[in-house]
Amino acid sequence: MPESKDAHHISLYSRASNCFDKPHAGEDVLHQKAEHFQKLFHVSDEQLRDITDRFVGVLREGLEHEKQTVPMLPTFVFGWPTGKEKGDYLSLDLGGTNLRVCLVELKGNGKFEITQSKFRITSEQKHEDGQKLFDFCAQCVKDFVENHYGSCALHENLSLGFTFSYPIVQHAIDHGELIRWTKGFGNPNTEGHDCAAMLREALKRHEVPVVLSSIINDTTGTLIASNYVEPDTKIACIFGTGCNAAYMEHVSEIPKIAHLHLPQDEDMAINCEYGAFDSFEHKHLHDVRTKYDEYIDLHSNKPHEQAYEKMIAGLYLGEIFRLVLCDLVDDGVLFLGQETYKIEKPFSFDTAFLSLIETDPTDELLTVMGLFKYFFALETEYNERIFFRELSRAIGTRSARLSACGIAAIVKKMDYLDAGCTVGCDGSLYSKYPNFADRVHHSLEAILGPKGRNIKTRQAEDGSGAGSAVIAAMTKSRKEKGIYKNL
Ligand code: GLC
Repeated sequence: MPESKDAHHISLYSRASNCFDKPHAGEDVLHQKAEHFQKLFHVSDEQLRDITDRFVGVLREGLEHEKQTVPMLPTFVFGWPTGKEKGDYLSLDLGGTNLRVCLVELKGNGKFEITQSKFRITSEQKHEDGQKLFDFCAQCVKDFVENHYGSCALHENLSLGFTFSYPIVQHAIDHGELIRWTKGFGNPNTEGHDCAAMLREALKRHEVPVVLSSIINDTTGTLIASNYVEPDTKIACIFGTGCNAAYMEHVSEIPKIAHLHLPQDEDMAINCEYGAFDSFEHKHLHDVRTKYDEYIDLHSNKPHEQAYEKMIAGLYLGEIFRLVLCDLVDDGVLFLGQETYKIEKPFSFDTAFLSLIETDPTDELLTVMGLFKYFFALETEYNERIFFRELSRAIGTRSARLSACGIAAIVKKMDYLDAGCTVGCDGSLYSKYPNFADRVHHSLEAILGPKGRNIKTRQAEDGSGAGSAVIAAMTKSRKEKGIYKNL
């Protein structure tokens, strides 16, 4: 056995091998593999800066022209909230993993209360006919309304905000044509259709006493909710099943909506849909894209789409990890002599497992041992578990570092560096993945220099609930005042 810098590792290693009495991978082989994967998933500071500069160019192109890869979608959410918005609003949130119905009570002064019901979306529901999915949504809203207000009809129809976290082209706040499904959804008869209209029809058919007032993206909701509570928030990001950002842009900087003749000093929130960065031609992330990223991309239901997202978002990190393991099983390096069919199943390795592996508090990495045993019926050696931790770190760190490029690009585009700003962030990677936020902060500094410290991220408010309600209130007040009534 080669000499290790850490004698403690050797003794544990020997103990583990005695216990299981089966062939195992040499410690030196796994050390080498760990180094190999650290290099493979490493993105240098210089690469981060280069990617960011390209990103800025791509954001500008999206604002100039229609139908760009990163579409920079106008949202028809005009300007910031006052913080005084009040009233009761319903919201329906169709995200990547769950469906949520909320009743939001806006109390003014940046305060609100939420009551909600949550449903998990099954994989069948992600692929059934679009109208069927919207029927399910309508039924969930109906049940929620009946539970809260009783089955008797409401005096006044409630306003429902629909948070639909997929790329939509909008001509008004209550209209949105789906460009393409993302995050593994593939429901037929939906792309190219107005999803607000589809939901409206379903609500009508189910006789739900609500009025669909707006359709928004989760990032836009997060932007507005976070600014409602913390006015320094200028950008919002989601790092969850998917990844994306929204920010407030000057209308004068959005040449592609010049035909609307809006006042040039007006502001409008832009849903960047930047998970699509580097899609199709794969020319910006070329140097950091690995064969695992390519495999995931080509075997997805949407090959060549959402290229950036597939390298950093929660839906994919566990799968990248699993593919590396499968390679090492094939090479005869891992799980020798064991039945590996469970881990060979695509998407069987949840990204939450990477969090667990990175944070295992025990010296012998017993959490990791239990995880492999319980979920995959695999026994692990100590040195294998150390390797898993290194690999998780490498994949998680790459995700955070690349995530920083999108934020830095918006900061550069909007010139926020000197004054600084807050980025409201949400999603399971941001809120649950250990060190994700710190890694993003370090990378922002690596990209933007010492002033990068002026850019702070914070856990955002509930965008799809509170944000949707604040937007509904803003829209109501705008329309009552007769401002851009048809938009
Ligand atoms: C995907 C969606 C985008 C959403 C993001 C986070 O990128 O296309 O609309 O904001 O996931 O949920």
